[in-house]
Amino acid sequence: MKIRDIDLGEKPVFLAPMEDVTDPAFRLMCKRFGADLVYTEFVSSDALVRSVGKTMQKLAICDEERPVAIQIYGKDPGAMADAARIVEEARPDILDLNFGCPVKRVAGKGAGAGLLQDVPRMLEITRAVVDAVKLPVTVKTRLGWDDSHKIIVTLAEQLQDCGIEALTIHGRTRAQMYTGEADWTLIGEVKRNPRMRIPVIGNGDVTTPERVAECFARYGVDAVMVGRASFGRPWIFKEMKHYLTTGELLPPLSFDWQMDVLREQVRQSVARLDERRGILHIRRHLAATPLFKGLPNFRELRIAMLRADTVDELFALFDRIRTTYGSEA
Ligand SMILES: Cc1cc2nc3c(=O)[nH]c(=O)nc-3n(C[C@H](O)[C@H](O)[C@H](O)COP(=O)(O)O)c2cc1C
Repeated sequence: MKIRDIDLGEKPVFLAPMEDVTDPAFRLMCKRFGADLVYTEFVSSDALVRSVGKTMQKLAICDEERPVAIQIYGKDPGAMADAARIVEEARPDILDLNFGCPVKRVAGKGAGAGLLQDVPRMLEITRAVVDAVKLPVTVKTRLGWDDSHKIIVTLAEQLQDCGIEALTIHGRTRAQMYTGEADWTLIGEVKRNPRMRIPVIGNGDVTTPERVAECFARYGVDAVMVGRASFGRPWIFKEMKHYLTTGELLPPLSFDWQMDVLREQVRQSVARLDERRGILHIRRHLAATPLFKGLPNFRELRIAMLRADTVDELFALFDRIRTTYGSEA
């Protein structure tokens, strides 16, 4: 599958954009384990235009994680076009537009999924951004605003006509937020629409290697995007890619091996940000990783781990966890 001339291979699996999750270190780890395309967290176009320092830092990407997409959001076509030009200078491979974020502070102000209630504006933004940059522009959105307005089949064609080069569909409506089950049938319908020429990327509730394979087989999508299942578990891409290429499940990865991966993620996080911010970012992954789920008497270590504020402190706790629970324990 290709987005313009970027070859993403057969049955590619992408890391979804996720605020406060897809930081540089995590993207790099996912890439090393086989993610074919990684996305930054969404970046506010208004803050980019105002050169807000913290926002500008979100544009930092490195060559090892390529191909990488930077995602922006906003509701003003002019500001989105200006932000797109700023993003272009950061040299990502792809620029993605967020028309799917359901949270009140975004959708409630008419950006993200809020644009599903104002399609003319969504299309105006898309055209303005496509015209503003040379980069391939892609869109990520949802099925529609709510159950009675699942507009995605028509919307997909309209977005394609604006010049986007791939479309990601999260199989939920805005009203669903993150509840209920993702509905892939409409994603399949978009893909089967003979008028669609651009790649269609399916997203929503893909948590196992078998489900990735099923999504390709049943819905015919060009790529599958994985979000929450990757929290604290960048090796999920290794498990998924192995299954897609061999049809077999990868033998279980040892506790010690997974600990080493998290240790490397801490190192990368600190190297790419600084010790304080690097550790703040890693906490989310440590809190969510399935590696520590169900460990007996883990509560105190968990609290200490999530409070540690130096690498030395954190790695000393990792050593204790490994001697207590590791395969050689
Ligand atoms: C913590 C969190 C942050 C997210 N941030 C973004 C974002 O910045 N941009 C975006 O397009 N989607 C964002 N999403 C949505 C995901 O990209 C994805 O569409 C959604 O989680 C469904 O996929 P999943 O079931 O594989 O998690 C976020 C989701 C979560 C859980």
